[in-house]
Amino acid sequence: MDTQRAACLHDLGITVWERRGLPQIPAVTDADSVSDAPVADDARTAAAAQMDWPQLEAAVKACTACRLRAGCTQTVFGVGNHRAEWMVIGEGPGAEEDRQGEPFVGRAGQLLNSMLAAIGLKRETVFIANIVKCRPPDNRNPAPDEAAACRPFLDRQIALIQPKLILAVGRVAAQNLLQTTAPLGQLRGRVHELHGIPVVVTYHPAYLLRTPTDKRKAWADLQFAVHTFGERTA
Ligand code: URA
Repeated sequence: MDTQRAACLHDLGITVWERRGLPQIPAVTDADSVSDAPVADDARTAAAAQMDWPQLEAAVKACTACRLRAGCTQTVFGVGNHRAEWMVIGEGPGAEEDRQGEPFVGRAGQLLNSMLAAIGLKRETVFIANIVKCRPPDNRNPAPDEAAACRPFLDRQIALIQPKLILAVGRVAAQNLLQTTAPLGQLRGRVHELHGIPVVVTYHPAYLLRTPTDKRKAWADLQFAVHTFGERTA
């Protein structure tokens, strides 16, 4: 293993032992509680579905569909490779992201970079986006109507990129993305589907900074994601 990867694994608090076999992929059983959260408006969804990248970015910048825009500094569109095979989806910009206009640039972002590097991915090779493009005040979770208002943009990003795998980080991202109320513990360790794209769920890096003892489980999730990616692209 190269030293950079070893350092990233160290950031994750992982001691690497020799691998004896591939992780088992549990069967997909979608008996989750389906969320009754608001769904995106049809007209806005249809309009976004026609947009190219510049149009989409301009539409996000101009959006006032929910109350979040009034309270944030700027929109945070997303960043990365438009042809990414991996897409990472978080919940929404925090203070640093609001300041810089880029997702995952604070401390959680640094850990996310290490998590990606631990599985051999450079930040710039993936695409990183959030459920909502504007910072919720006081870092609160996005409200269901705010997530729904922003959903056409996220769906269009996914459609334009056509990633081979989506990694949803954190409960809020996973529940909104998959429109479920199932707890994170039930969402991890399984392959979900969104528009035919496999979705794997793991902990939010900000949570891992607060609870480093769960980094080991996050590492298992990342290995599971790599294995899923390998199976789907074989
Ligand atoms: N947390 C998120 O979910 N997204 C960001 O962009 C930053 C922190």
